[in-house]
Amino acid sequence: MTKTAMPDAGLRPAPRASILSIDPYVPGKSGAPGATKVFKLSANETPLGPSPRAKQALRDYTDHLQDYPDGEARALREAIGAKHGLNPEQIVCGNGSDEILHLLAAAYIAPGDEAVFTEHGFLVYKIAILAAGGTPVVAGETNLTTDVDKILAKVGPRTKMVFLANPNNPTGTYLSSAEIGRLAQSLPRNVILVLDSAYAEYVTRADYSPGVELVETNENIVMSRTFSKIYGLAGLRLGWCYAPRDVCDAVNRIRGPFNTNGAASAAGIAALQDAAHIAKAVAHNETWLPWLAREISALGIKLTPSVGNFLLLHFLDEAQATAADGFLAQRGLILRAVSAYGLPHCLRLTVGTEEANRLVAAAIKNFTAIESRARA
Ligand SMILES: Cc1ncc(COP(=O)(O)O)c(C=O)c1O
Repeated sequence: MTKTAMPDAGLRPAPRASILSIDPYVPGKSGAPGATKVFKLSANETPLGPSPRAKQALRDYTDHLQDYPDGEARALREAIGAKHGLNPEQIVCGNGSDEILHLLAAAYIAPGDEAVFTEHGFLVYKIAILAAGGTPVVAGETNLTTDVDKILAKVGPRTKMVFLANPNNPTGTYLSSAEIGRLAQSLPRNVILVLDSAYAEYVTRADYSPGVELVETNENIVMSRTFSKIYGLAGLRLGWCYAPRDVCDAVNRIRGPFNTNGAASAAGIAALQDAAHIAKAVAHNETWLPWLAREISALGIKLTPSVGNFLLLHFLDEAQATAADGFLAQRGLILRAVSAYGLPHCLRLTVGTEEANRLVAAAIKNFTAIESRARA
């Protein structure tokens, strides 16, 4: 009779070493204890909410909760294709664009490989690279703006991917399509450039492009998009990418078979059909982004020029930013601390409803008045 070895009490499961080097993503706070009314201006959500059509589609979907969704999300891909003039065969959908970013990293980055992102780039890039076992490489920025030459200087024989948010979160700065084109043309053909265009719908500059034509003319460019921002469906988790066929093929091999849930698909399709709602959201942002910028900079607070639905406020130092964060939170105004982005002296403010915008401008004015009296 064989004797079963006693388990060694000292043994326990260990994740891959790179997993433990990941700082988990910490979302901005969403509550303000004690405040009677809370305005969440910390997550770049739309103050207009989703299209009423999307809400109705979601209600209607409750009759289908027992059914698995279409594993290929065909109707959604066709709706996205129709809206943007894209080939649905080159679209992959997922559980938020975060999932798409993770899938791309998992499909192309192996241990020993490197992937580049910018100094104040979106935090999920580093997490996705480390989760895949790769080595994150940070490229510096110039004036809180992506610098193509600094990215290219970090690209070497081990580079597999470059992640670039355009416009970037949390800075709000962007690169023109000419500069993005220069980056695309200068990268080695085996390096994938992921153009994260999460805020594309908000950008009204003539020299901006989310990257569609680059995807169509290169084998190594991917554009990712989300329904979480202007479409107001962050709670449902829905994102997608437009990519060369080979990239779609790779991602489709590893994604969960039903990674795009049916409720999100149904709401997403309806949201895409409500162009008037999106136009309203763009117009709202066009009014209130410059209004907030004027009001806040008139108080002597430096701002980074933003083309998104948010502003980066620069305080004198970390202590002042923390004090402002606390002061505003006590009044129910929740901003996003961005120390994790290497900007401890800054706060990010999302454009809110008219009420929220007026309240936050007035509260910042009160804060600066108190601060300047204290410093006098
Ligand atoms: C630049 C950028 N990319 C991607 C995302 C993630 O979006 P999703 O909700 O689709 O995962 C965000 C969300 O804040 C973002 O700012």
